[in-house]
Amino acid sequence: MFYNFYNLSKYYDIAFSRDISREVEFFIHCFKNYASFEVKRILEPACGSGILLVAFAKQGYNITGYDSSPKMVEYAKERIEKSGYADKADVVLGDMRTMTFNPKFDVAINLINSLGYCLSNNDLISHFGSIAESLRKGGLYIVEISCACEDVTNEKKPDEIWFSEREGIKIEATWCPESYDLTNKIRHVNFMMKVEDGGKFFVFEEKHDLRLWFFEDFERMVQEAGFKIKAIYDQNYDLILNNDHITGELGALYYVLVKE
Ligand SMILES: C[S@@+](CC[C@H](N)C(=O)[O-])C[C@H]1O[C@@H](n2cnc3c(N)ncnc32)[C@H](O)[C@@H]1O
Repeated sequence: MFYNFYNLSKYYDIAFSRDISREVEFFIHCFKNYASFEVKRILEPACGSGILLVAFAKQGYNITGYDSSPKMVEYAKERIEKSGYADKADVVLGDMRTMTFNPKFDVAINLINSLGYCLSNNDLISHFGSIAESLRKGGLYIVEISCACEDVTNEKKPDEIWFSEREGIKIEATWCPESYDLTNKIRHVNFMMKVEDGGKFFVFEEKHDLRLWFFEDFERMVQEAGFKIKAIYDQNYDLILNNDHITGELGALYYVLVKE
């Protein structure tokens, strides 16, 4: 499915800019703790505007991102060129459901629920298979997703609204999970951005369909693709000690998968 919003790469980048220093530290901690070799090469499916590509390049890693939105790829490419790290980071157009890479990478990372854009079981099986094919043995795949709430009424959260401003552009963004299709395991989300740019006002509104994850499905699919769940962390980067009961009530979680 095509989302116009991801064509508004500059506005996306302003609205989703965040301090990623702790997140990058956390990933490096996982590389050191869970990989049995020195991690040098990173792959980032659904890399968006490339915020992590430059951050990891600055830390000395070689990183390749890919995304299915040509505008995002263009934006990320410019960001890399401007950063002066084009020898360490690159970005290409590609679909995470099918794209594979050779030579293989040491680790892959997939953030902020982007895996939810693989909607059907077939898409997901194909995605995990493609990542497994693109990673060396013992390689890690670190994925950030939020599972469905055990009590579906907990899924209905108040609209999330946030404000961002950069280069004189002001954005008010609203991300509002609207309804849940439990049969097809889909979360319908309303996304809206009000933008003030150069004295002009725009409103962008669209619906995003995302996979409604159940931990059992996730666990089964990653195992079928040859991964093992090595650890799960919460948004404070604290280790979840009991993996027997993973639900959306815990919020978005980081899953550290190891390719066996
Ligand atoms: C929420 S953004 C994540 C961006 C980035 N990972 C970050 O941390 O800022 C989701 C991205 O997934 C991309 N996307 C959606 N479906 C995709 C697919 N099938 N293959 C590759 N990228 C996809 C969108 O174009 C968008 O850039």
